[in-house]
Amino acid sequence: MIQLREPTGPKGHWLAGNLPEFRRDRLDFLVRCARDFGDMVKIRLAHRRVYLANHPDLIEEIFVTHSKHFIKHFALRLNPVLLGKGLLTSEADFWLRQRRLIQPVFARNRITQYGPAMVAATERAIGEWKPGEARDIHAEMMRLTLAIAAKTLFNAEVGTDALAVAQAMEVMQSHFLQRFNSLMPLPMWIPTLANLRARRAVKQLDAVLFRIIRERRESKADQGDLLSLLLHARDEGDGAGMTDHQLRDEAMTLFLAGHETTALVLSWSWYLLAQHPQAEQKLCDELDEVLAGRTPTVDDWSRLKFTEMIALEAMRLYPPAYVIGREAITDCAIGGYSVPRGTTVLMPQWVVQRDPRFFDEPERFRPERWGEERIKSLPKFAYFPFGGGPRVCIGQQFAMMELVLILATIAQKFRFRLQRSATVTPLPTFTLRPVPGIPGMIETR
Ligand code: HEM
Repeated sequence: MIQLREPTGPKGHWLAGNLPEFRRDRLDFLVRCARDFGDMVKIRLAHRRVYLANHPDLIEEIFVTHSKHFIKHFALRLNPVLLGKGLLTSEADFWLRQRRLIQPVFARNRITQYGPAMVAATERAIGEWKPGEARDIHAEMMRLTLAIAAKTLFNAEVGTDALAVAQAMEVMQSHFLQRFNSLMPLPMWIPTLANLRARRAVKQLDAVLFRIIRERRESKADQGDLLSLLLHARDEGDGAGMTDHQLRDEAMTLFLAGHETTALVLSWSWYLLAQHPQAEQKLCDELDEVLAGRTPTVDDWSRLKFTEMIALEAMRLYPPAYVIGREAITDCAIGGYSVPRGTTVLMPQWVVQRDPRFFDEPERFRPERWGEERIKSLPKFAYFPFGGGPRVCIGQQFAMMELVLILATIAQKFRFRLQRSATVTPLPTFTLRPVPGIPGMIETR
């Protein structure tokens, strides 16, 4: 019989374990653990046993080979009322049925119909920009992807519903963080001030979503948006569709999973481009060659290769989901390590995607690396900004198309300069946010 190993890791406080260090500087802590203890590290966050998997082979085992031994980790269950049983949080047969229902909605040939709405929203946004003007490019990108999410998901214009939804989402994010960082989060039913605020936010969100769903069912009109597609989706086996509650959970999930992640990749792309004039020039050259001044369309997506490489490289250095977690539901073995039932396993993109074993000059922004032959020999899970295995991001193609079209539409007309005194730091909340935003100046090309 093969003797299974137990990973080692940093010593922690007798009660809180490694939670204080983890809370203090999460990214640095993850990097130090990998450097000091290797590919599989054992830590403790309060009462939770946590392993850090820092090698693509281990990640492949967790995502693919042994995916049946794992469910999503505890953090995604911290606020069950927000996402309900949507795709991101549901499990087992229920998840599989929903995934099968929703997957066709995100087929490449179907999502391309949203390209024109993405470009139109971008042109509307930059129509308000004036050269020489100071703007926080992160706030701009958040506004833009919010408008696109509202349009493509609900055929709604920003201003009313979408803004209310975004504000409520903000409350939920800070509520999540507070619970994630606490030693013993109190159950949601205890009426603490934070729980009450969160409940109010969810109520607000529900009111908007259930109203949109009701109106849509009553009108029976196909608005051509994602919600219409979800409403008409039918199970191949029993022909059943989704209930209002399922629709609400899925719509909320798509809205939450889709808009901030995409905005972050764009924000970090502008941040990196502003510091790398050569890459910026190469981008402009490609746009001149492919578009020659005309507005980009979905057909240009496959030709805008360098534009896409910029997004890929920005996601390598600043992955919006900087760590992905799972929880073992049975005792199992990963890479010769024993993983007891109940263990949380974290797979940090922040660490693996900057590992010099897999990427030359890993700290450097070098979009060209994605065009090189060598990248083809990259281990599959050395780069996983969209996760992997059965639970891989359903919106991956949607996001890639959005990223390329927005980058191309904006970079054709404008470039972005960082404010000299600005110090931007990646803050690991639920996602990796630039703090305090990305202040700078808009210039014409
Ligand atoms: C650049 C943008 C995006 C990034 C980096 C991203 C990243 C991810 C990651 C890492 C996961 C896997 C989480 C896990 O395994 O625990 C995921 C899942 C998911 N994403 Fe995305 N995402 C992006 C855009 C989108 C968009 C645009 C949508 C929808 C419109 C979307 C919807 C989802 C859904 C529903 C899931 C759950 C899938 C399942 O478990 O079956 N994402 N995403």
